[in-house]
Amino acid sequence: MPPILNGKRIILGVSGGIACYKSVMLASRLTQANAQVDVIMTEAATKFVAPVTFQAITQRAVSTDTFESWTDTGRLRSGHITLAHAADLFIVAPATAQTLARLALGMGDELLSLTALSYKGPMLIAPAMETNMWGHPATQQHVETLRSWGVDFVGPASGRLASGEHGAGRMVEPDEIFEHACRVLGRGGPLTGVRVVITAGGTREPIDPVRFMGNHSTGKMGVALARAARDLGAETVLIHAPLSVTPPGGVTLVPIRTAQQMHDAVMEHLPTTDVLIGSAAVADYRPIHSEEKKIKKLPGQQTIILERTPDILKAVGERRHDDPLHPRLVVGFAAETDDLEENALGKLERKNMDMIVLNDVTAPDSGFAVDTNRVIIFERDGNREDWPLMSKEEVAQAILQRVAARLGRQNWARR
Ligand code: PMT
Repeated sequence: MPPILNGKRIILGVSGGIACYKSVMLASRLTQANAQVDVIMTEAATKFVAPVTFQAITQRAVSTDTFESWTDTGRLRSGHITLAHAADLFIVAPATAQTLARLALGMGDELLSLTALSYKGPMLIAPAMETNMWGHPATQQHVETLRSWGVDFVGPASGRLASGEHGAGRMVEPDEIFEHACRVLGRGGPLTGVRVVITAGGTREPIDPVRFMGNHSTGKMGVALARAARDLGAETVLIHAPLSVTPPGGVTLVPIRTAQQMHDAVMEHLPTTDVLIGSAAVADYRPIHSEEKKIKKLPGQQTIILERTPDILKAVGERRHDDPLHPRLVVGFAAETDDLEENALGKLERKNMDMIVLNDVTAPDSGFAVDTNRVIIFERDGNREDWPLMSKEEVAQAILQRVAARLGRQNWARR
């Protein structure tokens, strides 16, 4: 679970649209990530989903009434003020046209907008409404106003609406709102102002239009790194081969397929890269040419002649002699089956990296395709650390904490 949500107080404002049922899933995900979720429902929302549903999910009282009171600190204060002053993030999902208007006009005629008026922190809005309502100049004007105040929006998506029509207005899925909540909370973290570029997944080298040479990488490790970088406030770019997992929201995605394309994308981003983390399993060889038509089944053996692909991190390492600031820090991975330490240290040196993360891919529960990893960290200054078996999320968080420390950001207070 992303530590960024641990112990955070989140107001989830739910206004009256059919997408309310999806907000139950959002409340559940946030609660499972150890956030304290206080749900405020408009009267219309209670017609779609009963407050007790949110109450059961969040284990917290659900607010619907402006005149209810809370005793949060021993002193009796009105509910909306107590909630608003304690919250780290205010999410409104779904936000109907009516609620957007109320928020943009600063109205306080019901509990959700009243609470928003006395709240000063980050706000994330997931609109949901019928296409014409979304496109109406009044709604667009309200969105513009809210954006100009620094409010973040996620969605709406286009697709089939509850009315049966197709168009813009669908609330995005709860997982996407969850990802953006992490991104918004991560803002101002220790990697603020740092551009982290991560490579992930296994490249695919075409043999013919239907076949390729690949490897077992799923991209799980790289996706976890991107999430961890984002949650520390980094501007994060994920250059990825095809993934078996959903890439994180709030990250710039650069999809590629081959080693050459990954090389070109990394080089294109290099002048603005502060930290490069190479977790991709990049093919070292590719067929010398890819057949235009599908290779037919013939009797006997077939030979495919291979040539070397560009070594991306080596090329970056060479460039660093001219421009040591881009990137300031290079972290590589080594997936090894034998002579682990010797191979990893050789790569650290040859590719001019600052840190290498060694995976013994023959160890159980470690390396390709699994959710956990046991790694050894080698740094250029001779430092070595053996980490226990951890989830890939935890490994990623620990690597990014180390990156922050190397950039002198370890004692950074979130701002
Ligand atoms: O994606 P998952 O299923 O979660 O699996 C994660 C992983 C096992 C792929 C990951 O943890 C890992 O170890 N990635 C590196 C795999 C690898 O190919 O290592 P390597 O020893 O071949 O390469 C060393 C380093 O050079 C790597 O950082 C690699 O990205 C980079 N490289 C390799 C070849 C090449 N042509 N260009 C490169 O930049």
